[in-house]
Amino acid sequence: TEKKTWSDRFEGTLHPAIARFNASIGFDLELIEYDITGSIAHAKMLAHTGIIEQSEAGQLVAGLEQICQEYREGKFNPGIEQEDVHFAVERRLIEIVGDVGKKLHTARSRNDQVGTDIRLYLRDRIDEIRHRLRQFQRVLLRHAEARVETLIPGYTHLQRAQPISLAHHLLAYFQMAQRDWERLGEIRSRTNISPLGCGALAGTTFPIDRQYSANLLGFEGVYSNSLDGVSDRDFAIEFLGAASLIMVHLSRLSEEIILWASQEFNFVTLKDSCATGSSIMPQKKNPDVPELVRGKSGRVFGHLQGMLVLMKGLPLAYNKDLQEDKEALFDAVKTVQACLEAMTILLDEGLEFRDERLAEAVSEDFSNATDVADYLAARGVPFREAYNLVGKVVKTSLVAGKLLKDLTLEEWKQLHPAFEADIYEAIAPKQVVAARNSYGGTGFEQVRQALAKAKSLVEN
Ligand code: ARG
Repeated sequence: TEKKTWSDRFEGTLHPAIARFNASIGFDLELIEYDITGSIAHAKMLAHTGIIEQSEAGQLVAGLEQICQEYREGKFNPGIEQEDVHFAVERRLIEIVGDVGKKLHTARSRNDQVGTDIRLYLRDRIDEIRHRLRQFQRVLLRHAEARVETLIPGYTHLQRAQPISLAHHLLAYFQMAQRDWERLGEIRSRTNISPLGCGALAGTTFPIDRQYSANLLGFEGVYSNSLDGVSDRDFAIEFLGAASLIMVHLSRLSEEIILWASQEFNFVTLKDSCATGSSIMPQKKNPDVPELVRGKSGRVFGHLQGMLVLMKGLPLAYNKDLQEDKEALFDAVKTVQACLEAMTILLDEGLEFRDERLAEAVSEDFSNATDVADYLAARGVPFREAYNLVGKVVKTSLVAGKLLKDLTLEEWKQLHPAFEADIYEAIAPKQVVAARNSYGGTGFEQVRQALAKAKSLVEN
């Protein structure tokens, strides 16, 4: 097998199976552009501080840029013998620029190097995910704007509770996504700290300028403890936590869409662009997209758990266990991005609300019972008394196969003298919703205000 960077200290060569076991090149090539960016900043810092010559830094930068070009053109394909992306780039650099390439790793270790790479990678992915969250929010808003006065049954315990505005329902998901967007913004700033210059664990004997390379890389600060800098993966765990919450939110929405698309609910129709058929049952149209989103949430939760366990027993500072952070992070990133994209498309063009069914649904039940109790309470009857009275009405109406709206004014008056002809208006679904005009409630006025605020949030 080929000579390793560190072979001179060793007598024998690595067992081929162990070489494969040890290597991360199979997945960390994903970091190559960040690795090169980090190395360019490091080379410039070395020249800025006089540790190497400006002309040497110039050669290093040109060589690194060439490797990046080769990679983009598909011409740089390092194999398992290179161990990892950091060795692969350094090896190629020396091939291109000669002996001066051997100066790049002055005052640096792969430990601060890989920490730099992974932070730069995650910073970009966080920006992309936040952008996707915004697109998801915009589609929710577009539906909500058109659906302020469309009613849908509101549930608790999955039992009909009180009718609500469909816009209000959709805006609940908007708010979850808003928290996700804000949370990722906070995590971005804790991710955006430079470990470069922490060395292997203890710093370096060279007069480096950590702030200089951090500035070149757009970091907001530098780790102030070298041991912490090379072994901290809190930002990755925080990201996986935030990614898990995004998946929780997408999964809850998925579950609702799956229910809504069932014949039992029949609140939405899935369009052909986002549904699939069955291999045996000709009548089927399956909600694969929300089902997959719901299912994929498990992977992301698993990665969060995996990373917590990965970290919990690690002594300071770097340990090879940390190499295991990458696949978890990469998979979580890809899963969240794919799920956000699919859900945005599904909402955008993949489903249609069935207005007539929704209107029917909110007028065929007892979800206006609270409003009868509120009616009496507003006229001086203590709420608990009114509640008990309405409970009895519901019981007798159920037996008689009637709804509240079917009671005659005489029947109402028999129940309680406070009832007047306006009880019918008070229990009509539209009025039931409109009347919940408390802050944050489903009343149309509230929903319109909430919509306006939501719109101003996604504008910037
Ligand atoms: N491939 C390694 C990783 O992903 C790079 C750092 C290796 N450092 C070391 N001291 N072995 O973590």
